[in-house]
Amino acid sequence: MFTAKINVLNTWYLSGETYNTTDFVRITWSARAEYKTRISKFAILQIQQSSSKEVTTLQAIVIYDSVFGNTEKIAQSIAAGLRTAHEAQCLRASSVSVAQITSADIIVMGSPTRSFRATPATHSVLESIPSAALQNKKVAAFDTRLLMTGVKGFLFRKIIDKGGYAAPIIASALESKAGALALPAEGFFVKGEEGPLVDGELERASDWGKKLA
Ligand SMILES: Cc1cc2nc3c(=O)[nH]c(=O)nc-3n(C[C@H](O)[C@H](O)[C@H](O)COP(=O)(O)O)c2cc1C
Repeated sequence: MFTAKINVLNTWYLSGETYNTTDFVRITWSARAEYKTRISKFAILQIQQSSSKEVTTLQAIVIYDSVFGNTEKIAQSIAAGLRTAHEAQCLRASSVSVAQITSADIIVMGSPTRSFRATPATHSVLESIPSAALQNKKVAAFDTRLLMTGVKGFLFRKIIDKGGYAAPIIASALESKAGALALPAEGFFVKGEEGPLVDGELERASDWGKKLA
């Protein structure tokens, strides 16, 4: 598929639809032949020029686990960001199949950080992916975690921070299956164990998804 600026002198028709002189339309390569028979030489020239900017739509999958719903909201925002350029599904770890993962071009996985790691459902998805199955695929990982300023007690804050987070563990596991890490592992913040998300985190998640796209 590519996007072409149609520059014709008259309104013209394709597949029953009417296009005007300055419309941008997405057409398949085979439809281009049909255009040739219908539009002026000048318009064909325009299409040929724009054909170098071929648009490739990739399939992305965002896999998440969530206990209180915060990671689910982040996953949906990431998928929305990805959809600005690609097709993206958002699926819970407990309901995703290996075939759905290995047929995607971009695989994003996220989990709440619980006791310094990802949830059991997230780990079991990671273990189910055959080795080298993510070759030539972009991968990325995220988690949700406590905002440190909301955690009471210096010692407790130190323990949580030293213990680590789910996203780097997920990222390493995806890389160990030959995936190419597209962005560094990312954490999104909640104010307390059950949430809510810190203000602005949904927008940050959507921007992160756009960067992956
Ligand atoms: C049992 C338990 C363990 C947790 N361990 C951590 C932790 O090690 N580090 C951290 O930053 N947050 C920790 N949290 C806070 C979770 O990260 C938070 O509940 C999660 O981000 C909420 O996401 P969810 O709504 O998708 O479940 C823990 C929460 C619970 C309930």
